[in-house]
Amino acid sequence: MFIGEGPGYHEDRRGRPFVGPAGQLLDELLAMAGLRRNEVFIGNVIKCRPPQNRDPQPDEISTCTQAFLFRQIEAIQPRVIVTLGRFSMNLFLPGEKISRIHGQPREVDGRLIVPMIHPAAALHQPQNRPLIEADFRRLPEILARAEHEAAAKLSAASSRDEEPPLEQLSLF
Ligand code: URA
Repeated sequence: MFIGEGPGYHEDRRGRPFVGPAGQLLDELLAMAGLRRNEVFIGNVIKCRPPQNRDPQPDEISTCTQAFLFRQIEAIQPRVIVTLGRFSMNLFLPGEKISRIHGQPREVDGRLIVPMIHPAAALHQPQNRPLIEADFRRLPEILARAEHEAAAKLSAASSRDEEPPLEQLSLF
């Protein structure tokens, strides 16, 4: 699951996330990670475009996440959440700085959170582009590790279930 900040002009008009220039770059970055749009869920922290594209305010973030985003996460149950930009990162890793931890996965409440620089930041500041590309190119390795760890947890849980309970052991 990928979570951006909120709709821009194009997204607001079309009612779909990441369909403007930042979305075009996101498509390219997904391709670098070997992913296509129809293989991932893409959403946003807030669901309406703030006036003049200002930053979302705390009450807007809280309203939109309670009403929508957290319910989307609950329904989808993603193992891995890639946050795009600081507002999305702050939901899972509050107090961190995106410039310090971008590209570094962290386990939060049983999910892997991968904080990424927002694609729009690479459009506005081209010096960010190599960083964001390098982070997306590492995604396949991160996803493979997450899959491997989930499989290992599942097999540990099922082998625990197979052990006979203690009272049965005492019968032998
Ligand atoms: N930026 C975002 O964070 N989300 C979008 O949907 C588009 C641009």
